[in-house]
Amino acid sequence: MAPTGSSLGKPSVLRCSRCGKFVDWREARLQVVCECRPKLELPPVTVREATERDREAVANLFLRDFGRTKIVAFGEVMSLAEGPALVADLNGELAGALGYRLREDALQIVALATEAEWQRSGVGGHLVAEAEALAKRLRLSKTVFCATNDNLPALYFYQRCGYVISEVVVGALIPLVPPGAPSGFAGIPPRDEIRLEKTLEPLEAPA
Ligand SMILES: CC(C)(COP(=O)(O)OP(=O)(O)OC[C@H]1O[C@@H](n2cnc3c(N)ncnc32)[C@H](O)[C@@H]1OP(=O)(O)O)[C@@H](O)C(=O)NCCC(=O)NCCS
Repeated sequence: MAPTGSSLGKPSVLRCSRCGKFVDWREARLQVVCECRPKLELPPVTVREATERDREAVANLFLRDFGRTKIVAFGEVMSLAEGPALVADLNGELAGALGYRLREDALQIVALATEAEWQRSGVGGHLVAEAEALAKRLRLSKTVFCATNDNLPALYFYQRCGYVISEVVVGALIPLVPPGAPSGFAGIPPRDEIRLEKTLEPLEAPA
């Protein structure tokens, strides 16, 4: 998904998996790592549906990560501040959130963000798993998401969660990028919309 508005700069804060420092979206780099990376002992993550009381904190998290309150995804403008969301609590704090919309046959993940300090703690995985469980309970056949071509961390994360690319809208973002706008992840220009989906196994009928 792509932010809308006068700039496509993403002030998203990502956490370095080597040293733990936070890094700006454009300064971030990808790196191959092996099993040497530390396995952290972390408190349990609780995922639940967001309430009215969570709304402001969720909107602030999305605003911080995406730099916008509105995004374009699947050819539509969507508000990040509205609509249902799942939230992840860690130590009683908001650690991450997933905004979604219900379509005819799919749950559409509109946005997903983990607070930088809790990245690589399982928060994103728990949020996506709960979105998939919700979709199954609603008898929806799939969950869908779209990322911009530069968002390699998201493309990696979703494919690790079992998502497959269903469509690439080449050049979809070019008309949205104003001249001189900051580039995306690692300085890569956002150009294309990459749609991903996961087909869900139907819930077994109770015996
Ligand atoms: C993409 C994003 C949502 C992933 O969220 P996350 O909370 O870091 O995801 P997870 O912690 O579930 O998984 C990330 C990695 O941490 C690892 N991890 C999970 N728990 C861990 C632990 N206790 N110790 C060490 N590593 C752990 C996972 O195995 C996974 O790594 P792998 O796939 O290489 O095996 C997050 O990086 C983010 O908010 N990015 C910015 C916004 C964005 O781009 N959103 C997506 C587009 S809307």
